[in-house]
Amino acid sequence: MLKSNIDASTDFEQRFESIDTLIFEHSTDAVKVIAKEIADLIRVKQALKQPCILGLATGSSPKGLYHELVRLHKEEGLSFKNVITFNLDEYYPMEPDSVNSYVRFMKSLLFDQVDILPENCNVPDGTLKKSEIADYCAAYEAKIESLGGLDIQILGIGGNGHIGFNESGSLQNSKTRLVALDHITRVAASSDFSGLNNTPRTAITLGVKKIMEAKRVILMAWGEGKANIIQTSVEGPVTTQVPASFLQEHNNVIFVIDKEASSKLTRINTPWLVEKIEWTDMLIRKAVLGLALKVNKPILMLTDADYIENGMSDLLADKGPAYDINIRIFNKLQNTITGWPGGKPNADDHNRPERAEPARKRILIFSPHPDDDIISMGGTFKRLQEQGHDVHVAYQTSGNIAVADDEALRFANFVCDYNTKFGIKNDEATGIYNEATTFLTNKKNSDIDTIEVRNIKGLIRKGEARSTSHFIGLDNDHIHFMELPFYETGRIEKDEVGEKDIELTVALIDEIKPHQIYAAGDLADPHGTHKVCLDAIFEALKRLKKKSYMKDCWVWLYRGAWQEWGIDEIEMAVPMGPDQVLEKRHGIFKHQSQKDGVVFQGADSREFWQRAEVRNKETADRYDELGMAHYAAMEAFVRWRF
Ligand code: F6R
Repeated sequence: MLKSNIDASTDFEQRFESIDTLIFEHSTDAVKVIAKEIADLIRVKQALKQPCILGLATGSSPKGLYHELVRLHKEEGLSFKNVITFNLDEYYPMEPDSVNSYVRFMKSLLFDQVDILPENCNVPDGTLKKSEIADYCAAYEAKIESLGGLDIQILGIGGNGHIGFNESGSLQNSKTRLVALDHITRVAASSDFSGLNNTPRTAITLGVKKIMEAKRVILMAWGEGKANIIQTSVEGPVTTQVPASFLQEHNNVIFVIDKEASSKLTRINTPWLVEKIEWTDMLIRKAVLGLALKVNKPILMLTDADYIENGMSDLLADKGPAYDINIRIFNKLQNTITGWPGGKPNADDHNRPERAEPARKRILIFSPHPDDDIISMGGTFKRLQEQGHDVHVAYQTSGNIAVADDEALRFANFVCDYNTKFGIKNDEATGIYNEATTFLTNKKNSDIDTIEVRNIKGLIRKGEARSTSHFIGLDNDHIHFMELPFYETGRIEKDEVGEKDIELTVALIDEIKPHQIYAAGDLADPHGTHKVCLDAIFEALKRLKKKSYMKDCWVWLYRGAWQEWGIDEIEMAVPMGPDQVLEKRHGIFKHQSQKDGVVFQGADSREFWQRAEVRNKETADRYDELGMAHYAAMEAFVRWRF
C-alpha cells in the first residue's frame, strides 16, 4: 500500500496537512508506485476470482499511470480480464469517436492496449438526449453499487479544486449528473478544442458521493500549476468551493504529487514552521525575504520581534540579532542587481553576478518559441547587444501551431496574388499555396494542418522573430532557426526530446563556444515545449562537458512567458528604466501573429506584452518593497550550475 512508503517522521512533518500526501521528485517514479498498488489489487482479486472495480480519470495527470499499466500488461503479464472500469466523466454532448472524447482517450491510452473486455469499460455516454440523462446517471451509479462499489478511485484535480467535473459549489452528497463547466475548466480544455468557442459547456460527471464511497482514493497532481490548489485542498478548510477538500473526510485517501505540486505545502514552503531545520544560506534568504514581504517592511527594518512572532526565533538564536541577519540578506539581494548582464569590464566582480572578463563575451540566447527571448528577457537581450557582446539567438522551435488559420490564409493569398499580378510562373509554388488555401478554407476543428500549412505558419513566425532580432541589432548571421523535430507533430502534444534535437543543439553550442548561454528554465512544466527544449540543452551540455571552452561557459535561466522566479531564487536582476520598458514592448509587437487574440490564450486574457510588463514591474516593485532602489522593471535570472 502506498501509505507504508511514508516514513516515520511524516506524522510530525504533516501536522498542517489533513490529507496524507506522498511527494516524489518526478511523476515518472510516482506513477510506478500507484500502478503497483493497482496491479497488486488486480492480482489479489484474480486469486479470489473477484472483479476489480476501478474508477478512472482522464486529463493530463493520469497519462503516465496508464502508460505504466500498459507496460505492466505487456512486459509483466498483468491481465485486466477481471477489471471493470468506470470513468469519472465525459463532455456533453460528445460523440465517442470524436478526437476529444474521453472514450477515445481511454481507448488509445489504456483499453485498446490491454486485455480488458470492452463490455467492462464504462464511460458516461455523451450522445444521450437531455431527457435521458437523469435515468442514465442513476443507472451508472446503480451499476457501481451492484458490483460492491469502487475499489480504487483515481483522480486528478482541477485548478479550482474540482474532482471529476464536480466544480466549485458542488455538494458533498452530489449525485452523478449533467453539470455546467466552470470558465476556468473550459479555458484549460480550450486548446484541445481550438479555442473557447468550440469548447463544450457541459459534461456528465460522477457525483462527489460516489467518489467519497470508493474504498480507496488516489489523487495525482504534477507541476507547479497545481501547487496552490493542492495546498488549499490539503491544508485549508473543507468547503464546497474546493471539492477536493471533501477528501479530508475520506478515511483512505492519498495525494500522490511531485515536488513542484508540493511546493506550497507548509512543510515544503516554510519548513521552519513545522520542525527544527538546518538553516542553509538559501533557507535563511527565503525566510527573511518572505518575512519582510509578509510584515510589509524593508529588510533593514525587521526587528527581533518580527522574527520571534513569525516562527523564526531559532534562526534569531542561531544567527541573530535581527540587525546582523538583515544586513547579510540585504547585501546578498543588493548584489543580484546589475545593469551589466554580460559582466562589467574593468570592475571588481567579486560580488557581481557575472565575471568582468572577457569584456566581450560570446553569448547564445536560446528561445523555445520565436517570442520567448523578447518576452522574457528583451531588456537584457538589448543591453547585451548594446554593451558590445557577440550575441547570437537561437529559435528552437518553429512555433507554427500558434498561428491562427486566417493569418496563414492571408499570407497564402498574398503569395498567390503576387504571383498572379506580376505573372510569376512558378507552378509548383502556386500549386502549394493554392492547396494550402483550399485546405484552410475548408478546415474542420479537429483537422491537423497539412505540412504546407504548417510551413506557412512557421514562416510567419520566422519572419517575426527575425524582425525582433534586427530590432535588437543582430544581423542574419547571428540568428539561428533550429526547427527542432520534436515540435513538428502538428498537434499540441509534442514528442519527447530526440537524438536529432540534441545533435542540433550540440552543433550550435559547439559552433559558437559561448561564454554565456541563456535558456528558458521552465523546470516545473512537465510536458511543455520549454521543458523539452531545456532537456535538449542540458543533454547537449553534458555531451560537451569535456570541451575546453565549457569551463568558461555560464548558463543563465530565465523563466518562460508565464511565470517569474521567486524573489529568493533570483541570482541576477537586470533593471530597466521606463524608456527601456517601452522599447521592449515594441520588440514584442513584432510578433503580430501573437497579438490581438492568440490561438493559445490560456487562462490569462492579457496580451503577452502586458503580461511581460506586469511581471517585470512586479519584480522591480518587490525589490523596492524590500528596501532596494526603485526601478521601472526588472528581468530575473537564475544560474544553472553543471
Ligand atoms: C478528468 C477529470 C478532471 C481532471 C482535472 C485535472 O476525468 O475528471 O477532474 O482530473 O481537470 O486535469 P489534468 O489532469 O489535465 O490537469
